[in-house]
Amino acid sequence: MLYRAFCLVLLSVSTLALSPPASRTSPPAGAKIVRAGTSTSGEYSTFAAAVAALPNDSSSQTIFIYPGTYTGQVNIQRSGPVTVLGYSTNPGAYSANQVTLTASVGADTAGSNDASGTLRIHTNSVSIYNVNIRNGRGAGTQAIALSNYGDHVGLYACQLVGYQDTLLTNQGKHVYLQSYIEGTTDFIFGQLSQAYFEGNTIAVSGTGWITASGRASADAGIYLFSQNKVVLASSAPSGTKTYFGRPWRSKNFGLDCCIFETLIFVTDYARVIFKSTTVTAPLQTSLWSIWNTGDERTDHVTYGDYATSGSGVSSSASRPSWAPLLSSSAAAAYTLSSALGGDTAWIDKNYLI
Ligand SMILES: *[C@@H]1O[C@H](CO)[C@@H](O)[C@H](O)[C@H]1NC(C)=O
Repeated sequence: MLYRAFCLVLLSVSTLALSPPASRTSPPAGAKIVRAGTSTSGEYSTFAAAVAALPNDSSSQTIFIYPGTYTGQVNIQRSGPVTVLGYSTNPGAYSANQVTLTASVGADTAGSNDASGTLRIHTNSVSIYNVNIRNGRGAGTQAIALSNYGDHVGLYACQLVGYQDTLLTNQGKHVYLQSYIEGTTDFIFGQLSQAYFEGNTIAVSGTGWITASGRASADAGIYLFSQNKVVLASSAPSGTKTYFGRPWRSKNFGLDCCIFETLIFVTDYARVIFKSTTVTAPLQTSLWSIWNTGDERTDHVTYGDYATSGSGVSSSASRPSWAPLLSSSAAAAYTLSSALGGDTAWIDKNYLI
């Protein structure tokens, strides 16, 4: 009996532990191969060329990328599933990544947030492993590293680096696991997605806000953070402080269809939960922020944190009335499954803690 109980404990521990592959240094059969500077027939010297070569049908396709930096924006739009594998001798750790996709386009020149994305995902069932995705535009405008509009999209041990609006997690069900996400201003943002973040390092490179949820109605959209770290990026100036977030969408005033009729759409339904976060970057005393003075956008927000700890949390931390500290039972209701409406079979569970 005791022995059986012992084995059950061992079993449950091992099924919970991270279990990514030990290495991934060669392409699986059938993969399209990307290799910087290649002259081998059948290989592609850019990621963009490999994506363009995928058949636009319902088949599952894989792209394997050898180490290197690949410059230019790419939009994945084919209809079937796509898996992107970055070469790695340690696929569990983003810090060992050797593949970088980079561009430096801002929304000011691109015309929209989405159009500025270094990598844009506009199809469903996409999994990306061990790839760094960077927007090098820097301060001054929205400049998205990853613009994610797909359903069932998983990022596993990736690095997303930008400054303002690094990750547009806009639409669909997404997971971001064991990854690194860096920025200063509203750097995890979007409107409709159901996004789950676990085991990530969230790196703050300047004073601003981590999230800017733009949920605009009481829909299923949510950003749920569980067991992540918030750290200072190496580039952060001294005095840097951050908030968990501020609500993006607002009351919109506008003339609509009918002459002389002004419609008011109340759309401030931001929803973000931080559970069991270890914070070493200085967190503002009040943890959460209004949008702007006189345009607070807090009417219908759902904000909360639970078991926040670490040296970045002020001993005099306080929370606004619209962003309470959650009770353990309230926090327990926010799970991977609840965030994604029970739709979790598509997730690579090897990257869950
Ligand atoms: C693939 O086909 C779909 C459906 O016909 C279309 O909407 C999409 O633009 C196509 N994508 C590409 C990359 O051609």
